[in-house]
Amino acid sequence: MWKGLKSIATFPLLIHTLCFLLFPQPLLSQDVNGYVRQPARPTIVTPHQSSESEPQQVHISLVGKDKMRVSWITEGKHTKSVVEYGTNSGEYTGKVTGEHTSYQYFFYSSGRIHNAVIGPLEASTTYFYRCGGSGPEFSFKTPPSKLPMEFVIVGDLGQTEWTASTLQHVDSSDYDVFLLPGDLSYADSQQPLWDSFGRLVQPYASKRPWMVTEGNHEIEIFPIIYPHGFKAYNARWPMPFQESASTSNLYYSFDVPSTHVIMLGSYTDFDAKSDQYKWLQNDLAKIDRSKTPWVIVLLHAPWYNTNDAHQGEGESMRKAMEDLLYQARVDLVFAGHVHAYERFTRIYDNKADSCGPMYVTVGDGGNREGLAMNFKNPPNPLSLFREPSFGHGRLRIVDETRAYWSWHRNNDTDAVVADGIWIESLSRSKACSGTPHQKVNVHEEL
Ligand SMILES: [Fe+2]
Repeated sequence: MWKGLKSIATFPLLIHTLCFLLFPQPLLSQDVNGYVRQPARPTIVTPHQSSESEPQQVHISLVGKDKMRVSWITEGKHTKSVVEYGTNSGEYTGKVTGEHTSYQYFFYSSGRIHNAVIGPLEASTTYFYRCGGSGPEFSFKTPPSKLPMEFVIVGDLGQTEWTASTLQHVDSSDYDVFLLPGDLSYADSQQPLWDSFGRLVQPYASKRPWMVTEGNHEIEIFPIIYPHGFKAYNARWPMPFQESASTSNLYYSFDVPSTHVIMLGSYTDFDAKSDQYKWLQNDLAKIDRSKTPWVIVLLHAPWYNTNDAHQGEGESMRKAMEDLLYQARVDLVFAGHVHAYERFTRIYDNKADSCGPMYVTVGDGGNREGLAMNFKNPPNPLSLFREPSFGHGRLRIVDETRAYWSWHRNNDTDAVVADGIWIESLSRSKACSGTPHQKVNVHEEL
């Protein structure tokens, strides 16, 4: 199938190349600290070079407290949705038969998309597995049952040479769960690029759980024919939304030890009458901070942003939902969309507030659109660190009280740690234990 689709896949690349020639990217630019920012790099198309029945695009995601969904695709339509797994290589003591689906998008027919949920699994344990009853063996490590644990967080990944560089840096140091706040493949309706992206990330997404939420590049709406969008995204990247009582793959939550993670949808309804809003209200009300002292939120379009790019795009969602997060004492909010790194102080309603979440934009995975180079001047005092470079972030939850956030800038061959800060959980903060609305009046004015 790939051979037939290769010409379709190369079409956007030709357009991209043409645009590059007509509207060349800025050459290397140097910031005040002397760091040379790199321009965008070309898209990598990752072909499938094995048989039709060979599993490809293998990735895993957490389901409940001790299960894992294994997702993969075969070009062959007769391959079984079976996963065999065990704690010793080649010895499979568990076997689960899952289900499969496929989808059509104009003239493109997807391969057979398989999903099987395996478990219960032991914590901090390496499992070996294979898909479809044959083919290569993969392995993953389950998250620990207690702290410390570490998230990698990076959005707007795409599939360029910068993406490959980011993923290599991510892989060079151990972590437990990968969180992606939207914009995965940049297929933009060119469906073969979804397959190419799945193959590019497989070496990483098959060995650590990847938990994602959607960005604007996942929408793929076409009037009348595909009016609801997210057809490829929902088929290829099913997340455990039912487990958190959500009715949509576009927003959900899950728990890992000591942390409640909420994935919101910037591109589905979020006003006070919406299903997402009501779901979020209920989800926040159910949090037990004695069990999950840390609460973090991911979404795509940032609520706070001092870059020239995408100004104001998260504003209506902020106005609709910020109160909910503030009253629930959410610790951190991560966004993508803006192709740069930016870290803010704790904020509520555009003012520094020690009981509000700390906001971070980490839309710098390496996509083909390049970097968002221009931040507003003079700098907004709420914004504590800004840099238009590719990279990734890491949130290490050390204990119930302390976490360390670090941002790792890609610098060609090494991941350079460019920013880092210790964070205290709001659940342990005596100053924030009062009624949230009382705190509204004690903002630290800047
Ligand atoms: Fe985006």
